[in-house]
Amino acid sequence: MTHHYFFAPCPRGLEPVLVSELEQLGALSVRGHDGGVQFQGDWRICYRANLESRVASRILWQVASQSYANEGDIYKIARALPWNEWFVPALTIRVNVAAIKCPLRSLDFVTLRIKDAVCDKFREITGSRPSVDTVQPDMRIHGFLDARQFSLYLDTSGDALFKRGLRKSSGEAPIRENLAAGILSLTGWQPGVPLLDPMCGSGTFLLEAAQISLNIAPGSGRGFAFEKLKKFDKRLWIRLKDAALARQKPLVRQPLFGSDLYGDILADAHANLSAAGFSEIVTLKQANVLEISAPAPFGFLVTNPPYGVRIGESEKLLEFYPKLGDMLKKKFSGWKAYIFTADPLLPKCIRLTASRRTPLFNGALECRLLEYKMVAGGMRRIREIDITCQSDQQPVDFKN
Ligand SMILES: C[S@@+](CC[C@H](N)C(=O)[O-])C[C@H]1O[C@@H](n2cnc3c(N)ncnc32)[C@H](O)[C@@H]1O
Repeated sequence: MTHHYFFAPCPRGLEPVLVSELEQLGALSVRGHDGGVQFQGDWRICYRANLESRVASRILWQVASQSYANEGDIYKIARALPWNEWFVPALTIRVNVAAIKCPLRSLDFVTLRIKDAVCDKFREITGSRPSVDTVQPDMRIHGFLDARQFSLYLDTSGDALFKRGLRKSSGEAPIRENLAAGILSLTGWQPGVPLLDPMCGSGTFLLEAAQISLNIAPGSGRGFAFEKLKKFDKRLWIRLKDAALARQKPLVRQPLFGSDLYGDILADAHANLSAAGFSEIVTLKQANVLEISAPAPFGFLVTNPPYGVRIGESEKLLEFYPKLGDMLKKKFSGWKAYIFTADPLLPKCIRLTASRRTPLFNGALECRLLEYKMVAGGMRRIREIDITCQSDQQPVDFKN
């Protein structure tokens, strides 16, 4: 069995979640780095990681890793590779380059040299070359340079993996699907336990939670770049997809609740859940978060509130945060609340004591996932409430 080297980028802060996902899928030598996870495995692992990882942004197949000194070395390394054994020149390509501490002057020039090397190699062997398509390429090629080492990857995913093919409408400032799934994993929420997002926007947490509850592979409704590779093993792929389908649970109502202040935004969430086939299993309601009641005696509240720069105005938020804290104290005892925010003022103004603060990045934006254990009688730390799965629990309508 041939083992290949892969790298899976992910939102920064979620590397440990991705390490355990990949280990569970059977990947070998799994090692977290800043911004992603390196692993080894055969094509089966690569296909499964694309199909089943909820947290990876892409699965990149490493095709070269060598030391370099200048742009000439980059060209030679890229040109020496058997590109024509991997895909046909009728496919379009796009090259992306990222670097840390790279001494070369222009990354645009490096990008151009890699593209030239690939095209020259194709022309030499086949007489024709792939064209470049920067918008919707068939094959993405990623170069990564540090001070001395140049690594080249073929992207086996194509579109980024957070594009599940489910969310049709995006509301305002939606969170990426893989970040939402990673946050749910960090909270320790388990299927069957009540989950509420009271500022649900387009419903990303709910969509991810519904898929997790029903054990739906996140990639089951989309295509991948590896299907265009010459090495593509269609029979293996069909077997893996069928196996994932067989593990899906029946579509039954779940204790998943979402609300939002605005009817048009809630309509987006509704459209997204309907398009995914989840409208009957998730309960949605238009409501002000400051006026809701808990839909169950215990559960997980997971949300990302509006953030000054992008949606509201900072002054309004300074008034909103203490009210949110009061509401949680009064109406959510027995619950664990997880608030994902980029606003450093939220933890100061909410007037609750966070039991955990996890740094995470939403793109380049530094954020925190704040954990608040809501206990009866304010924030006194009492025995943790046992939140065992209650699969027969009926969803309760939100009270105003
Ligand atoms: C950052 S967005 C959430 C995005 C969401 N996680 C997604 O992926 O689409 C914050 C949401 O809070 C909602 N919101 C703002 N104030 C609210 C309030 N008082 N009660 C309920 N929802 C509110 C906004 O309408 C917006 O949809």
